[in-house]
Amino acid sequence: MSHPGLAGGPIYLDYNATTPVDPRVVEAMEPYLTRWFGNPSSGHPFAEQPRQALAAARAQVAVLLGARPAEIVFTASGSEANLLALRGAALTGPRPHVITQVAEHPAVLETCRALQHLHGVWVSTLPVDGDGLLAPAVLATALDEHAASAGGPVPVSVMAANNETGALQPIAELAELAHAHGALFHCDAAQAAGKIPLDVAGLGVDLLSVVGHKMYAPKGVGALYVREGVRLEPVVYGGGQERGLRAGTERGGDLMRTADPRTTGPDGPSRTPPAAVVTVRSADTQGTR
Ligand SMILES: Cc1ncc(COP(=O)(O)O)c(C=O)c1O
Repeated sequence: MSHPGLAGGPIYLDYNATTPVDPRVVEAMEPYLTRWFGNPSSGHPFAEQPRQALAAARAQVAVLLGARPAEIVFTASGSEANLLALRGAALTGPRPHVITQVAEHPAVLETCRALQHLHGVWVSTLPVDGDGLLAPAVLATALDEHAASAGGPVPVSVMAANNETGALQPIAELAELAHAHGALFHCDAAQAAGKIPLDVAGLGVDLLSVVGHKMYAPKGVGALYVREGVRLEPVVYGGGQERGLRAGTERGGDLMRTADPRTTGPDGPSRTPPAAVVTVRSADTQGTR
């Protein structure tokens, strides 16, 4: 990719921290920052373009993850997607408890710490082996110990790919174990989405976080896959945007759209991980804001 920020060196190798915004992303965003400024919730023609863009973006993220568009909730970051998943699930159970592992990103670990301090949530932070992996047997023991006494679906949170080591956790196996114990499974896929194929049905996850700026979109864009039927406490209260889970006229619309023509054929987007993700500025579509 030719990019003004990369011209002339030094060589940038820290793509796990963030990626440069793809110029095609900037181009796709531009009309929503200038011409199509309307709030898609409005009942007049200014809503039309933003409304369509939001629906298209939601559909494309859904395709990327093998989900339905209605299962995609846009957030302002990956951290916020993790917060919605963990806090949202922990606070709906009768006796709040979260199980995670020690090598998670701070967006998960610090959220767990805050849940413990602020809401009295029990947190079990499981160890990993020498390769940075959570052994299914370790999770099984924790679930045996805690899931039954929790009296409700305990959320288990394990990342897909580690941001420092690249270790890939055995998500499908861990999620199956969690479900066998009546637990919910959240996966922070911030470092995996766009790099390896992800399929929420194949992985068997209930909740999955993705981040735009790891995939050539601007910072401040994330999304949470919320499997149909999973109940969460909202992360932002207000006008009911994003299925009532994250209120606020979407500043940025937080729309992610695959920009690479290889991923968007004549029949719509394909499941190939995108070379670029487009963020366009818009607002939400449902109800009065
Ligand atoms: C694994 C992982 N989860 C979550 C995040 C947080 O994403 P954001 O910067 O969008 O809040 C990151 C970002 O570095 C990450 O690597």
